[in-house]
Amino acid sequence: MPFVVAIDGPAASGKGTIARAIAAHFGFHHLDTGLLYRATGVKGGDPVTAARGLMPDDLSRPDLRSAEAGQAASRIAAIADVRAALVDFQHRFAARNPGAVLDGRDIGTVICPQAQVKLYVVASDEVRAVRRARELNCDPADMLVQLQERDRRDSERAAAPMRPADDAVVIDTSDMSIDDAVATAIAAVDKARR
Ligand code: DC
Repeated sequence: MPFVVAIDGPAASGKGTIARAIAAHFGFHHLDTGLLYRATGVKGGDPVTAARGLMPDDLSRPDLRSAEAGQAASRIAAIADVRAALVDFQHRFAARNPGAVLDGRDIGTVICPQAQVKLYVVASDEVRAVRRARELNCDPADMLVQLQERDRRDSERAAAPMRPADDAVVIDTSDMSIDDAVATAIAAVDKARR
């Protein structure tokens, strides 16, 4: 069975950076599942139809990283039928050899509860707002409000809410360098592979 690393956590916690670094280190495939929801959200029209009709090209649109796309993604991600439409793609990806890293909100709890490694990456709201504001070149105070709104929606929805799996390793990156956070994550994967 291929090896699966499930990485969940709120926006700008560092989970994407950690996911890419783990994939590069172990030679695994990487899927940023947030892109599926972002691409669905920006497509417009009926979100369930948009999710069912997602094409590879939709995932490389240049506007997917914007704060607006993040908010649109968070809104349509609360719809159970949208989530259901995206499950098969994620399961097929998780079955790729020699292993796969998927990052999102519900990977360890719903999409890949059998993952050999589950990480839940967090950081304080203020640290996350400053990081994301730098990336998107906008005001940290505005970003803080946006992130908190999105986290609340993502964690309070009925369908696959954001939360750590019972057996997830929690990594708080608030006061960590990227190198330290990546080293901690790699150590967790190494331990599971022994
Ligand atoms: O990880 P991200 O910021 O790109 O995700 C954008 C939104 O998509 C997030 O606010 C909630 C939703 N999402 C989700 O519900 N489940 C996932 N596995 C990934 C993202």
